[in-house]
Amino acid sequence: MILRLFFSFLCLGAASAKQVEQVHLSLSGNQDEMVVTWLTQDPLPNVIPFVSFGLTQNGLTFTAKGVTTGWADQGKHGVMRYTHRATMQKLTPGQVYYYQVGSSAAMSDIFHFRQPDQSQPLRAAIFGDLSIYKGQQSIDQLIAARKENQFDIIIHIGDLAYDLHDQSGSTGDDYMNAIEPFAAYVPYMVFAGNHEVDSKFNHIVNRFTMPKNGVYDNNLFWSFDYGFVHFIALNSEYYAEEMSKETKEQYNWLEQDLAQNSKKWTIVMFHRPWYCSSKKKKGCHDDQDVLSREGVKNEFPGLEELLNQHKVDLILYGHKHTYERMWPIFDTKAFKSADPGYIKNAPAPVYILTGGVVSKLFKPPIKMTFLQGCHSHEDPSDHIMQDFSVKALGEYGYTFLTVYNSTHLTTDFVDTSDTNGKFLDPFVLEKD
Ligand SMILES: *[C@@H]1O[C@H](CO)[C@@H](O)[C@H](O)[C@H]1NC(C)=O
Repeated sequence: MILRLFFSFLCLGAASAKQVEQVHLSLSGNQDEMVVTWLTQDPLPNVIPFVSFGLTQNGLTFTAKGVTTGWADQGKHGVMRYTHRATMQKLTPGQVYYYQVGSSAAMSDIFHFRQPDQSQPLRAAIFGDLSIYKGQQSIDQLIAARKENQFDIIIHIGDLAYDLHDQSGSTGDDYMNAIEPFAAYVPYMVFAGNHEVDSKFNHIVNRFTMPKNGVYDNNLFWSFDYGFVHFIALNSEYYAEEMSKETKEQYNWLEQDLAQNSKKWTIVMFHRPWYCSSKKKKGCHDDQDVLSREGVKNEFPGLEELLNQHKVDLILYGHKHTYERMWPIFDTKAFKSADPGYIKNAPAPVYILTGGVVSKLFKPPIKMTFLQGCHSHEDPSDHIMQDFSVKALGEYGYTFLTVYNSTHLTTDFVDTSDTNGKFLDPFVLEKD
C-alpha cells in the first residue's frame, strides 16, 4: 500500500512536470513548412524533443527534431520553463497532416492541420487584447469556428492573456493551454502589446516562434507572404518605451522589407492605435501613440509616411478595447467616397481598430485577488465619432479577413458577445 502510494506519487510528479503543454503552430514564411512550439515545466536532460507527423493518425511516419530553450520568468520567483520548437518541412499545400510532439519522456495528443494552400482565398481571424479570464467566451467561439474550418490563420495583435508573465507566468501557461484547441490546429501569429514589455518582452521572445526575418529574431517584428498578401507586424512598444536604437533598426528593416515586397496587397499590424473615436483619455492621441505615427526627427522615425509611400492597403491595431473601421486616412485626413462598405483603389491605408475581443461574461477565477486595469470594454457611448470613422461597435468580437485574389479582399466583424457569431460590418476593398 505504501509502496503503491509512493509510486503513484512519483509518477504523477514526473508526468505532470515533463508533460507536453501549450502546443501551438506558426508559419515560418516558407510555403512548405509548419512550425510547432510547445512547453514543458521541467527540463528534459539527455532526451531530444521531436515532432512526428504524417498523413493519417496511425501513420506519423516523418520526424523532425526540435530545439529546446530553457528560460527564466523574470518575475519575483524566476521560474524556469522549457520551450521546444520543431519545423515540419516538405509539406504539400492543401494536405491534412496529423502530428504529435514530445520526447521519450512524454508525448502530446495527436493534433492535425491543413497545410495552407496559398492558391486558395486566405481567411484570417485578427484581434488584439484577448484575456484568459475575461475572454473565455471569445476563446470558446474561436475554438468552435476553428472546428468548422472557418479560417486558415489567427493573428493576435498584442496584449495576450493579461498577462503572460502574471503569477510568475502561470497566467501565461493557463492562457496558452486554453487556446490550444485552436492554436494547435491553425497557425497562431503574435507580437507584443504594452502588456508584454515586462523583462524585455521575455514571454513573447520565449514562448513563440515567428518568422525569422526581423533584425533580432525575437518575434517582435517580422513579415511573411501568404498568397497575394504581404503581412508585416511591427513593435509599437519600441516607441512607447522610448527605445530609440531599436526603433531605428526596426524602421530601417521596414524600409527594406517594403522595398522588396512584390505582393499585390500589403497589410500592416501593430498594437497601439493612431486613429480612433474613443472618448477615454485623449482618444488615440496619447504621446506614445502619436510618436510612432509622426516620429521625432533623428530619434524616433515616424511610420505613417513610409507606410503611405509604399501604398499599404490595410492597417490593423488594438489597444483600445473596441472595434472601429475607418476610411482611408493619411496625416489625420480621411478620404471619403460614396459607399462606406465598398472602396476601390483607396488613396491611403484603410484602418481597423480591433481590440474588443474581451467578454462581458466575466467570472474571475478564485485565485485572482485583484484585477489589473485595461480590461474594460468600451461600448458605443464611449465613442465620439470622428470625421475619419465609418463604423464603431460596442459588441465583443474579432475581425474576419478574406483575401480572395489580387483585386478583392473583404473584412467583417464577428460578434462573439452572442453565440451566433453574427457578422456586423461587411466591407469590400478592391483594387485594379
Ligand atoms: C476576385 O474575387 C472576387 C470576389 O470573389 C470576384 O468577384 C472577382 O471576379 C475575382 N477576380 C479575379 C481576377 O479573379
